[in-house]
Amino acid sequence: MKVLVIGSGGREHALAWKLLQSERVQSVFVAPGNGGTALQEGVRNLPLTEPAALADFAQAEKIALTVVGPEAPLAAGIVDLFRARGLRIFGPTQAAAQLESSKAFSKAFMQRHGIPTARAQTFTDAQQAHAYVDGQGAPIVIKADGLAAGKGVVVAMTLAEAHAAIDDMLGANALGVQHNADGARVVVEEFMAGEEASFIVIADGQQALALASSQDHKRVGDGDSGPNTGGMGAYSPAPVVTPNVHARVMHEIIQPTLAGMAREGMPFSGFLYAGLMIDAQGHPRTVEFNCRLGDPEAQVILMRLKSDLFEVLMHATEGQLAAVELQWDRRTALGVVMAAAGYPAAPRKGDAIVGAATVASEDLVVFHAGTALADGRLCTSGGRVLCVTALGDSVRLAQARAYEGVRAIGFAGAQWRSDIGHRALRH
Ligand code: AMP
Ligand code: GLY
Repeated sequence: MKVLVIGSGGREHALAWKLLQSERVQSVFVAPGNGGTALQEGVRNLPLTEPAALADFAQAEKIALTVVGPEAPLAAGIVDLFRARGLRIFGPTQAAAQLESSKAFSKAFMQRHGIPTARAQTFTDAQQAHAYVDGQGAPIVIKADGLAAGKGVVVAMTLAEAHAAIDDMLGANALGVQHNADGARVVVEEFMAGEEASFIVIADGQQALALASSQDHKRVGDGDSGPNTGGMGAYSPAPVVTPNVHARVMHEIIQPTLAGMAREGMPFSGFLYAGLMIDAQGHPRTVEFNCRLGDPEAQVILMRLKSDLFEVLMHATEGQLAAVELQWDRRTALGVVMAAAGYPAAPRKGDAIVGAATVASEDLVVFHAGTALADGRLCTSGGRVLCVTALGDSVRLAQARAYEGVRAIGFAGAQWRSDIGHRALRH
């Protein structure tokens, strides 16, 4: 069988790597892919990004299954297009993807269905938003409605920060948020205290199969300092997701979400990612939904998955998840992102990378993201460059192994956090 993975990041490299392990998969195409997928045996990059061109390719090549990595093509309706042409694809429809693509939609959905989340109100009018914020006080959270590559959220510790965020999001838009069709909107949300975790399931429209829990590190600097990024590292499992928290998340968040989406005529199939805030008493609430795997969560989760991902996703696209059980490596997986000079504000491109090909072993994989081949030489081509991912019998051992890998790789200006896993070490 041939499989097509859409996207170009570390998540997509991990998907391709894992799908290729299936006995039934003969080759994987990644569109457009990166330097790592270009070098991987059995994987081929495809220089296509237009949904219609991808569907033409899937049809001509008799692709058995297409898996979509990032949110943008999902929000643009690539699943609807493939399905209309009778092509098998794993991911939510455009309507179902609103759980991520519109924070206002997802907030209203959670309120309608009693899914635990922060209290919130949506505004199009800046003056009303300012007045509401003054009434609520700080800390308070201001979110732009619409996709913003992780940059559309301001956790304001002071009222001044909150007011500035409202003015920017409803005015100048310095963060570059992609507004939804009805224009600029902000969601103003209650600040939730606690510890975050990523809870991702495979959904087939009705049923959900939970993946292993994970946690990522969103801030660029050690000790969770500096600006937000797409994620500087991750590990799985996340100790904060105890068996009790796990059961509550399935019962109070995941199942009502799938039932609600189905009842509203938008059954959700695909990876459903609930970003959780778990308070000191172990009550989980939803920070946000994503309609895809996390990056770099995918790298650590897939490194621990023993089951055949291709088989699982084939079952999911047939609405047959009830027949599937997942097997996991008991070890901890921990991934450290190596980012380019200047990330996240202005990542530099074109630095030569050495060592990435030689450090890999049974317990260490280097997943590529912002890399490209230039005249056969590997160089940086984006903000997050590599995710060095290791397995170990404890968080500490996985961490030590991953940093051993990091130290064996070099490129000019490389930056990484030195404390990935610090929360898990405290548990
Ligand atoms: P989001 O894009 O909605 O995931 O928000 C990005 C980050 O902002 C989250 O991962 C949290 O760290 C933080 N955040 C978002 N909403 C809240 C909230 N209501 N309370 C506290 N922190 C939040
Ligand atoms: N690492 C967070 C995300 O993929 O949204």
